[in-house]
Order: sequence, then C-alpha cells, then structure tokens
Amino acid sequence: MSRTIDKAEWHPASWQSRPAAQQASYPDQAALDRAVSDLSRLPPIVTSWEVDGLKDHIARAQRGEAFVLQGGDCAETFDECTSENIVAKLKILLQMSLVMLYGLKKPVVRVGRMAGQYAKPRSADTETRDGRSLPSFRGDLVNRNPFTAEDRIPDPQMILRGYERAALTLNFVRSLIDGGFADLHHPEYWDLGWVGHSAMADDYHEIVKSISNSLDFLETISGAEVHKTQRADIYAAHEGLHLLYEQSQTRYLDRRERWYNLTTHFPWIGMRTAAIDGAHIEYFRGIANPMGIKIGPGMTAEWLQELIAALNPNNEPGRLTLIHRFGAKTIEEFLPELITAVKETGSPVLWVCDPMHGNTESTSEGVKTRRFDNIVSELESAFRVHESMGSYLGGVHLELTGENVTECTGGARGLTDGDLARAYKSTVDPRLNYEQAMEVAMRIAGLHRETARVNRNGG
Ligand code: PEP
Ligand code: CO
Repeated sequence: MSRTIDKAEWHPASWQSRPAAQQASYPDQAALDRAVSDLSRLPPIVTSWEVDGLKDHIARAQRGEAFVLQGGDCAETFDECTSENIVAKLKILLQMSLVMLYGLKKPVVRVGRMAGQYAKPRSADTETRDGRSLPSFRGDLVNRNPFTAEDRIPDPQMILRGYERAALTLNFVRSLIDGGFADLHHPEYWDLGWVGHSAMADDYHEIVKSISNSLDFLETISGAEVHKTQRADIYAAHEGLHLLYEQSQTRYLDRRERWYNLTTHFPWIGMRTAAIDGAHIEYFRGIANPMGIKIGPGMTAEWLQELIAALNPNNEPGRLTLIHRFGAKTIEEFLPELITAVKETGSPVLWVCDPMHGNTESTSEGVKTRRFDNIVSELESAFRVHESMGSYLGGVHLELTGENVTECTGGARGLTDGDLARAYKSTVDPRLNYEQAMEVAMRIAGLHRETARVNRNGG
C-alpha cells in the first residue's frame, strides 16, 4: 500500500493554517470547540475496510471494468431523514443500477449522495430579502433555512445532529441490505409508484425477469447462491465542505498507516473550494479515502494537473474521480483539453459526468429548474467526447429522488414550468424525480424505448 503522507507534516487540522472558503462564521467559539471535541470522541460512521473496498471498485471502473452510479439529494435535510425517504432513495438507486448493469453488461457501483450531504456552498455569504440581509442558509449541518435572524445563526450543535442523522441513515441502509432488501431474486421489493403507470414499466419488468432467470440458471449450474456473494452494496458520499465536521472524524489507523475520513466512504471537493493553496486541498491530500473533484468551465489544464499532483502524487489506482459538470452547451468545448491534461499526468482517474450542475436555470418566475433534454444532451456529449479521445466515461453523478417531485422539466411526462409548483421540495437544487431518473438510467444503458424494442425483437 502506498504511503503518501508523513504523520509530522500533515494532521487533520493542518488545513486551519490555509484560507478556507465557504465556512460558516460561528459567533460562539467555545460552543463550537465543544461540539468538535464531542464529535471527535464518537465512533465512526464507516470503516476503513469499506472505504478501501470502494477504492478497489473505483480502480476497476477506472480500467473500464465497472460503471459508477452516484445519486441522491442536492442537500439532505434533517426533516427528511425518514424511513420512507431512505427506502425510496435506495429503491431508485437499486432499480437504476439493475437497468444499467443489464444494458452496459458491467458491474454497477452504487454511491448515494446520502448520510452526510448536509452542507452546501453558497454564491454569497448573505441573502437579502426586502432590504434585509441575513447569513445565507448553508445546509442543516450549519444553520436553519427559515429567513429569520435566529434561524440563520450558525449553531455548533447541528454538527452533532448531522452526524447522528448520517449514522441513522447508513444504519438503516445497511440493515435493509443485510436483511435481504437488495436481494436480486426479489426486485419486486424495490418497486416504486412509477412502475404501475409508466410507459417504461414493461421494459423495466422485462429486464428484471431476464436478470432473475440468468441468476437462477447460474445458481443451478454452480450450486451456490449468487446473491450472497454479489450483494448490492451502497456506499455513502457527500461534499467534504465543512472541514471541522470532516476533521473531527478523521482517524489514523496504525494497521494501515494512513489517515481515514470515517464520516463517509467518498467525500468530494466542490467546484468552489478547489483552490490549490486552499484549506480543502490541504485537508483532502492527507486522507486515504477515494475522492471526487468537481470540475466545471472555470477549470484550467494547469490547475487540474496541480490538483492531481497534490492529491494523488503516487498515481494510486482508485483514488481520484473527476466529476465534470460543464453544461450541455459547453461540454464539447471544455472537456477535450482537460482529458489531454489528465493523460499527461500519468495518474489513473475515473471520469464521471454530472449533467445537473451546469444546466441549472431560472424560470420567468424565478424558480430554479433543469430541463431533462439538456441533462440528457450533456450526458450524450460526455460519452461521445470520451470515446473520441480514447478515454472511458465510467460513471454518472445525478441529483435525484425516489419521490414523485416536480423540480426538473421535461421527461416522459413532459413536465412544464407550470408544473413546478405542484411538488417542489428541494431546498437547494432541482432533482430528477423517480421516473426521470429511470429514464436517464435507460438511456445510459442504451435501452430507452426505441432501442429496447429493437433489442427485444432481435432476441
Ligand atoms: C453540488 O453537487 O450540489 C454542487 C454544489 O456542485 P458543484 O460544486 O459542482 O457546483
Ligand atoms: Co446541487
């Protein structure tokens, strides 16, 4: 195992000597110190075995042998840490992964934007309404959404409440999976409302039937139960934005001789906090987790090469995932140069397309939305560009929910701007609803309706 970090030269708080973007300003330092110290003593949410397991899966995806599905809320909220919500998210990720597995003929690694996705970067430190300015809402890990002075004061106790919610979420997910919820023999456990009334339902059920039949066949000839060894794991990911939260659960494991961030399997660095001399890069370079970097139109070839040198100096497989989010109109212009720049470094990376964050727009009434066609168009461009450059697009990063919300327009049901008010629940960015999410999965798998029919007819 490669060792990248000298224990004397880096420690979980060494980022504090660097400028830290997007951090909350807490009025009560003593209360903050107490919360950080309390969190440091609590047990980890994930283990290093799981973290290294995910790193191996990502290394496999980097070699073109697997595909990564990352998805979940833009921002989780404490209120929505409920049984129904967690189950719905698990169901949609399982369903999508099944369709993708079938179409791509590769293992699909599932990574939820969940169990810790509570801190959000904001474009301004303050928000002004009717001439009154208050601190911006930075996610439930920091402060509260209602526009009152009291709600917007950063509250250190929320760091602990977030840790607890994250642990509760992952505990439930693990129990569901261990208890057999993700058993590939019983995909009917994962049925969501759309399956009953969607045009895609027939295609989906045929895929499921075909996979079940193959499993039965394999088990008959091998005499072993395939699903016991091929359990559908789900890994957790969140933006590693709130550095005190990340720091508090960063442990040195003597056995591995490395530091691990044990709040999550896969933290990522947001587009706004990727400054090479900034606090976030200092923190991330010291941990052993596999990690993502969001890259958008502001990223240059030199900057990306510097990031790779800082974060993966030993060219370790599985460590780096580059999540690009340019927008449907600009991806073809920006991506090729960055692919070339990465090739020059010699570092293996996993390329993942986030077709959401470059395609956010406002309706004439000021509601944040994304058009389904733009999302699909960016995704198709991403596959095309990587193929033409000889690189492998090995994953997709989506904001989605297992609920029937109306936040993005378009898709099979042709949602319009006028539909948005009906079920708009996101506190930050608009998510694909369950049916739109399935449609994206079908397209990635090359199985959306026309293709699916052709495949069926062709046997
Ligand atoms: C996000 O993933 O919700 C986000 C803020 O993304 P980005 O850093 O790419 O803008
Ligand atoms: Co978002």
